[in-house]
Amino acid sequence: MSIGIFDSGIGGLTVFKEVAENFPKADIYYLGDTARVPYGNKSKETIIRYSIECATYLYHNFNVDVLIIACNTASSYALDTLKKILPIPVIGVVKPGAQVAVRYTKNKKVGVIGTVATIRSGSYQQELKQLNPDLEIHQKPCPLFVPLVEEGWIDNEIAKLTVKEYLQELIDKGIDTLILGCTHYPLLKNTIKELYPHINIVDSSIAIVEYINNLKLDLNGNGKRHILITDESHAFDNFRKLLIGDAKTEKIELSDLCSL
Ligand code: DGL
Repeated sequence: MSIGIFDSGIGGLTVFKEVAENFPKADIYYLGDTARVPYGNKSKETIIRYSIECATYLYHNFNVDVLIIACNTASSYALDTLKKILPIPVIGVVKPGAQVAVRYTKNKKVGVIGTVATIRSGSYQQELKQLNPDLEIHQKPCPLFVPLVEEGWIDNEIAKLTVKEYLQELIDKGIDTLILGCTHYPLLKNTIKELYPHINIVDSSIAIVEYINNLKLDLNGNGKRHILITDESHAFDNFRKLLIGDAKTEKIELSDLCSL
C-alpha cells in the first residue's frame, strides 16, 4: 500500500521522516508545495484550493491508498473537504496532536503554537475541548519560527531569543504541555526543551505515527520513497540530509498541480 503526504513545503518532511522510519515497507510519496509556501498567512479559500490541488495530484498520479495532510494549516482548513472528495482515508495532524496533549497534561493547561492561519482557525482548541472540556487552552501564533527554521537557525542565539519572546507568555500562564502546531516547529524542539525543560512537548510528526498505528492499515509495499517539490528551495537543501536521506527527489511543474 502507498501513503501520500503533502505539505506547504519542507516542514512536512518532519512527518515524512517519522512515517518513513516507522513504516519502512510502505511506499511513500511526499509533495512539498515549495512554490507557494507559506500557506500560514493565506486566506481560508486559498489554503483549501491549494490543498485540493496537492491532494488530488497525489491521488491521481500515484494511486495512494491513504493521504496524510502533514501541514497543520492545511489540516486546520481542508481536512473535511478532502475527506469528502477523496475515496481514501485522509488524516490530518490536528487530532493526533490534540489526543497526545490531553494524555500528557497533568494540570490541564495546554499551550498551542502555530501559524497565524492555524491559530485563527481555532482547530486545536476545538479538538482539545471535545476531548476534555475542562482544559485551559492558551494559543499563540509564532510566524517567525518558519523563516528561522528555513534558514537553518534552529539553535543559535537568535533562535533562543525568538523562542523566549513568543513562548514566555504561555509559560507564565502555567502551561505544562505545549503543542507544536506547525510542521516546522519540531526542528526547534531541542531549543525549546533546553529553555523550558519542564514542559511536555507534543510533536505532531510523532503523534501521527501512533495515530496511524491505531488505524491498523496494511501498509506493506516495496519501501519506495519519492519526494516531489513544486520549486527549487534553499530550505529544502538545508534539511535534505537530516530529513530525507537518499530518497528520490523530483521537481514538478506547478501548472501540472493546478490543471487537475
Ligand atoms: N506547513 C505549515 C504548517 O504546518 C507551516 C508553513 C506554512 O506556513 O506554510 O502550518
